Amino acid sequence: MDTSSAPAAVTPGFSTVAVHGARVLRDDASDGAERPAGRPVVTPLVQSVNFTQPFGTEDGLRYTRYGNVPNAESVQTRLALLEGAEAALVCASGMGATACTMLALLRPGDHLLSSAWIYGGTHKLFTQELPAFGVEVTFVDPTKQRDWRRSVRKTTRAVFVESPVNPTTRVLDLRPLARMSSELGLALVVDSTFASPINFRPLEHGADVVIHSATKYLNGHHDVLGGAVAGAASVIEEVRQKMIVWGQAPDPFACWLLERGMKTLDVRVRRQSENAQRLAEWCESRGEIARVLYPGLPSHPDHDVARDTLDGFGGMMAIELEGGGEAAERFVKRLRVITHAPSLGGVDSLVSEPRYTSHAHLTVAERAKAGVPDGFLRISVGIENVEDLIADVEQALA
Ligand SMILES: Cc1ncc(COP(=O)(O)O)c(C=O)c1O
Repeated sequence: MDTSSAPAAVTPGFSTVAVHGARVLRDDASDGAERPAGRPVVTPLVQSVNFTQPFGTEDGLRYTRYGNVPNAESVQTRLALLEGAEAALVCASGMGATACTMLALLRPGDHLLSSAWIYGGTHKLFTQELPAFGVEVTFVDPTKQRDWRRSVRKTTRAVFVESPVNPTTRVLDLRPLARMSSELGLALVVDSTFASPINFRPLEHGADVVIHSATKYLNGHHDVLGGAVAGAASVIEEVRQKMIVWGQAPDPFACWLLERGMKTLDVRVRRQSENAQRLAEWCESRGEIARVLYPGLPSHPDHDVARDTLDGFGGMMAIELEGGGEAAERFVKRLRVITHAPSLGGVDSLVSEPRYTSHAHLTVAERAKAGVPDGFLRISVGIENVEDLIADVEQALA
């Protein structure tokens, strides 16, 4: 055996990539070569909108709104690596990421096929804004494969789904949709905010573009608004062009905070998944709770799909209290550790009532039909000690 040979190269894991970015993938990444003494360990915040420009050429122009300043590029590289994408882009918000992606993929006269189970803001974008640009949208029950096929038109260009679904935690099987999209030459776009790249990487399952509200798990600390898009370099460049003219680029400080948040993504999401599993199992044993929705429970309608396709069941769960809206209000008021607030994916556990947030515009009957009857509460499980979360829920139920 030749003991002088170099050790076999090891592909860095998600956490290593999230902490170090592309640096660890390079052969010259040793401290001596790449990090001379005195260099900061943390990516410096370059809070500058303008950068000196080379003479006599338009190349090399850097400007914050173009998405090519140092702190944006540093996050984009990490995200592309985590999603297994050629390229990624950070935007000012999740909605900005979805809007710019749609503007890049669709033209007047085109048709978009969308899952009916999507975040309320995205639904508004598709029903109120895209039609004004001459784009027609058809919503499909995502579990009905035949309906997807039947709804395809000659003008269909893209398919949009969200999984796991906000707020019901339903998990979609992308595989048949990916087959259909590739057969018909449609772009399959997946909002993977709830899973984060730790638990699911849609591009590995045949998606073309993945979108995140980076406000949620990617940042994870309730202090940054951001969005992200990842996919083929040519598509991401088109999305970037839309981001530039629609003014959807993030500020360098938001990118810097996002990079700091992403360093702990793996440990946070694993802990949140463990906590959510324990809390969901405990909730299932309680008579005051009529229904518990968590993909890690065998009782979840998509447990098998979740087990087959996700690397972890995630930190999002929902409960439906016996006693409807009144019981939910009493419960939420009594919570001490879990905070009543919108949004999700951060280190603090949060609870929200869709009847006052994403589903406020629907009637009671419509909400019930959408799977979120009054009494339904979405819980974004944080990284606290799970015993304290269980005790908090127990005292609030008492
Ligand atoms: C699944 C999902 N996608 C997109 C968004 C929009 O993200 P943002 O609030 O960062 O614009 C949200 C926000 O709640 C969401 O839950």
